[in-house]
Amino acid sequence: MAETQHEIKSVLTENRVFPPPEAFSKQAHIRSMEDYRRLWDEAASNPEKYWGDRAREELYWKEPFQTVLDWKPPHARWFVEGRTNLAYNCLDRHLAKRRDKPAILFEGEPGDRRRITYGELAVEVNRLANGLKSLGVRKGDRVGIYLPMVPEAAVAMLACARIGAVHSVVFGGFSAEALHERMNDAGAKVLLTADGGWRKGSVVPLQKNVEAALPHMKAMEKVVVLRRTGESLSLSDSRMVAWDALVKGQSDTCEPEWVESEHPLFILYTSGSTGKPKGVLHTTGGYAVNTSLTTRWVFDLREDDVYWCTADVGWVTGHSYVVYGPLMNGVTTVLYEGAPTQPGPDRFWEIIARYKATILYTAPTAIRAFMRLGDEHPRKHDMSSLRLLGSVGEPINPEAWMWYRDVIGGGRCPVVDTWWQTETGAIMISPLPGATPTKPGSATFPLPGIHAEILDRQGNPVPRGQGGLLFVTRPWPSMLRTVYGDPDRYVRTYFNELPGMYFTGDGARTDADGYVWLMGRVDDVVNVAGHRLGTAEVESALVAHARVSEAAVVGRPDELKGTALVAFVTLKQGNAPSSELKKELATHVAKEIGAIARPDEIRFAEALPKTRSGKIMRRLLRDVAAGKQSSQDTTTLEDLNVLAALRQNDE
Ligand code: WTA
Repeated sequence: MAETQHEIKSVLTENRVFPPPEAFSKQAHIRSMEDYRRLWDEAASNPEKYWGDRAREELYWKEPFQTVLDWKPPHARWFVEGRTNLAYNCLDRHLAKRRDKPAILFEGEPGDRRRITYGELAVEVNRLANGLKSLGVRKGDRVGIYLPMVPEAAVAMLACARIGAVHSVVFGGFSAEALHERMNDAGAKVLLTADGGWRKGSVVPLQKNVEAALPHMKAMEKVVVLRRTGESLSLSDSRMVAWDALVKGQSDTCEPEWVESEHPLFILYTSGSTGKPKGVLHTTGGYAVNTSLTTRWVFDLREDDVYWCTADVGWVTGHSYVVYGPLMNGVTTVLYEGAPTQPGPDRFWEIIARYKATILYTAPTAIRAFMRLGDEHPRKHDMSSLRLLGSVGEPINPEAWMWYRDVIGGGRCPVVDTWWQTETGAIMISPLPGATPTKPGSATFPLPGIHAEILDRQGNPVPRGQGGLLFVTRPWPSMLRTVYGDPDRYVRTYFNELPGMYFTGDGARTDADGYVWLMGRVDDVVNVAGHRLGTAEVESALVAHARVSEAAVVGRPDELKGTALVAFVTLKQGNAPSSELKKELATHVAKEIGAIARPDEIRFAEALPKTRSGKIMRRLLRDVAAGKQSSQDTTTLEDLNVLAALRQNDE
């Protein structure tokens, strides 16, 4: 856990406390710690009543449920007999009161803008839903989505939900290889994509990647291509159809498919500590109840909020807190396509001022980057509309937290540091902004109904102040249901550490006041600039290169990215280390996975240090990576076995 040491030291000395501003608390959904504790106790003493009540409040159910929870560890079914539809809950339900209210305020990177009302969004979703049906998509079929951050990404997800198809969004920054691997695993028969998207002034060549992936996607029947960047669209494969042509002439109405509560809603691939990415499967009812609830409570939503979550729909944050959570609550959401610093360092702040955003939800890595760019950029803009700030994706260091609060929030906005995962579906540990006194760098307390506990490997609670492993010891509605196509992996990965209890893969501790402090991953998953990656994935990409014999990838603490990737590589006989080869290997990884996985540093080694039983000594490699940079001539082969010999008994 070398990469977490710095974090632990810095949070141990943190004792500033910021109570919620009084005016904020007065109008909040949850107004005091007493209210929070009362809810917590209610949920703990009678979870079925608590969640049953929440489920009836949050969602429209076409058919009511009788059974709140059917728990056969580690398998949960929630709101069992209920039937609902999420597109209905995100759209139709609002039309009586909010037909003309903006659902999405879109800004493209080149500066194009669209304002889409709930009424208009419903029509777009229905047309595409009908279009998908005309392509033969039926309830339960898997549909891939590989789109830039444009309104059609939300339309695509909701159209799938409307007809009971299971969407699987692949982040636009992933490569052709990563795309076909995921599409094949999901068995997707239709893919929704675009000619490209805008990022840092250039086009992300989505369609080109799809073309490269198509020969490997045998089950793929149709690819629907949206025109985003090009003047004219070239449909280079007989399986391709233009989005415009597909939706043209389709009816504006589409009867929702009333699906069972446990009907799959989406598969989202995420990195684990071993092997290829896992298809995390979420189902309808439980996921919806908890994303809707947490969006309203954690962001303390009000009818007139202009809410902006900067995540891409390719990640779980985009699913839960760009699309489903806000739309279920009928709020106005800002959607921005491009890079935070395009065309200048103040693009975000300009957007906040233009749309009078009231809530901003972003990642520590972005906050740290803005901090470095200087205060003058946010100060140029009127951001007095902001009333709440959120953080997600990695531990936020107290300095960045303070800067966020002072410079972006003008010292008046509560900051909610929200801990959760792709697997948890929704926020699990977070302040409630009208109730919880916050400490910079702490995610504070588990939400009501969430039994997040810090235990040792034997399952004993660890004393306050001491680090342990973070488990969720009771089921919750938005928990993942399985790993798609690999039910054993679900059990092995999440429920093997302590039987029946969900293991998060994170380390954590509580302080003397019971506040939770996250300490980072304890497995071989790393958070690089807020993106979750498995070191094993990067290793297998490296080993797939013709000149590489072995590779070990570890994280190194990085001021900006949180964690940087360092790859130790041994070469096959007859290959000499060179800086060209380093570049080639880095490019190779970007091609295999995506630019987000490109190693920050590659070091050649004579051999990888191994224990007597043949395990790579990762702790040693992390220490080496975290130490001073490698020697001046960074292309030479290092002999790590000398160090390994000294450390044999240590690993
Ligand atoms: C980390 C993103 C500290 C954690 C929603 C977790 C955090 C992983 C926080 C999940 C936070 C997320 N403080 N660490 N507030 N939020 N993490 O699946 O290590 O992309 O296990 O979900 O991000 O990443 P994922």
